[in-house]
Amino acid sequence: MTDEPKKNMEVTPWKVSGDIDYDKLMVQFGVQSMNDEIADKLAKHAGFKHLQLRRGVYLSHRDTDWWIKEYEKGNKVGLYTGRGPSGHVHLGHLLPWFFCKYLQDAFDADLYFQMTDDEKFLHRDDLTLEAAVALTYENALDVIACGLDPEKTHIFSDADHIQHLYKLGLKVAKRTTFSTVRAVFGFKNSDNIGAIWHPALQMMVCFLQSEREGKNIPCLIPAAIDQDPYWRITRDIAEKMGYYKPAQIHAKFLPGLAEGGKMSASQPDTAIFTTDPPKEAGKKVMRAYTGGRDTVEEQRKLGGRPEVCNVYAYYYFLFEDDDQRLVEREVSCKSGEILCGHCKTDLAVRIEVFLTDFQEKREAAREVLDQFIIKPVE
Ligand code: TYM
Repeated sequence: MTDEPKKNMEVTPWKVSGDIDYDKLMVQFGVQSMNDEIADKLAKHAGFKHLQLRRGVYLSHRDTDWWIKEYEKGNKVGLYTGRGPSGHVHLGHLLPWFFCKYLQDAFDADLYFQMTDDEKFLHRDDLTLEAAVALTYENALDVIACGLDPEKTHIFSDADHIQHLYKLGLKVAKRTTFSTVRAVFGFKNSDNIGAIWHPALQMMVCFLQSEREGKNIPCLIPAAIDQDPYWRITRDIAEKMGYYKPAQIHAKFLPGLAEGGKMSASQPDTAIFTTDPPKEAGKKVMRAYTGGRDTVEEQRKLGGRPEVCNVYAYYYFLFEDDDQRLVEREVSCKSGEILCGHCKTDLAVRIEVFLTDFQEKREAAREVLDQFIIKPVE
């Protein structure tokens, strides 16, 4: 890594680009650093420490310690996360969803899963409302394939299930001024008024379980840090509305296959989608950016640079569960013993195996999709 300033970092709920400087983001967003005590407590309740906790994938949080304490007092706790269905799901999206599965099992928590098809329609010129809604149900298959519990998972489309959301959305909207959303999200006069309203719907889900069950239930939101602006403003109005402030746990971004930035659906050649034919995904991996040197001789002499290597990042974030083996890979890379082709070939095989299995689960999810869709309160 160099000490050069990071290149053009931009992190908003709609755009993540440049070299991400997480320390700077944490200060900018005013969040707390993740710590061992929280990771250990989550692990204690789960019975094991998730790879994402062992590897520091969760860099920061707000009130996650409080959420755990509420559970330890014997109180019910809940989870909330979501997806903006604008295309197929990629590996980066799966990170927080796998983590939700881990937390759902450990804390016996309901998960409210929002599909913001309205948001994607309102923000993109190339997506019809019908296409965005159809993608809700396609993307829901990926959510289900992560192994969530149908009894405790409530997936909903903003467009199709608005009857469960609108009243609470209105109450949140009434508390949220245009000047707040303009300051936080940078809305301009030329933006359509639907886009300006949408934050109220993403915010209100923080209170949805409490509202449906008629009592305050602490809500934790696992997501990458790009979604944080919504929760900052939700926390400001929560207590005035009689709810708890929502807690958050923020993930780092899984990088794309090219240098810099995160895995992003808008760059399909450098993202691995869950729907990619496994062999095609393997070929993408073979073209990935690595931390290798220009020539084999240099690499043998100087060693590779796992700290800037995206292929190494995939082992680190998802595809090498064994900590010891990960260290061995890092050491052999740095010593020049193994070359990039070796790591890429090995990763391509792992990704092909992963996708083959995931795609079977995804297809099986079609049969049970209805069980996961939000139901009216009894
Ligand atoms: P969306 O569809 O952009 O992203 C869905 C989830 O994936 C996370 N994410 C990533 N995580 C790791 N590495 C990456 N490369 C990566 N790219 C995306 C996002 O942080 C998010 O958690 N407006 C939202 C949908 C939404 C939502 C929510 C998300 C509604 N309510 C509550 C999180 C929590 C959206 O468009 O997400």
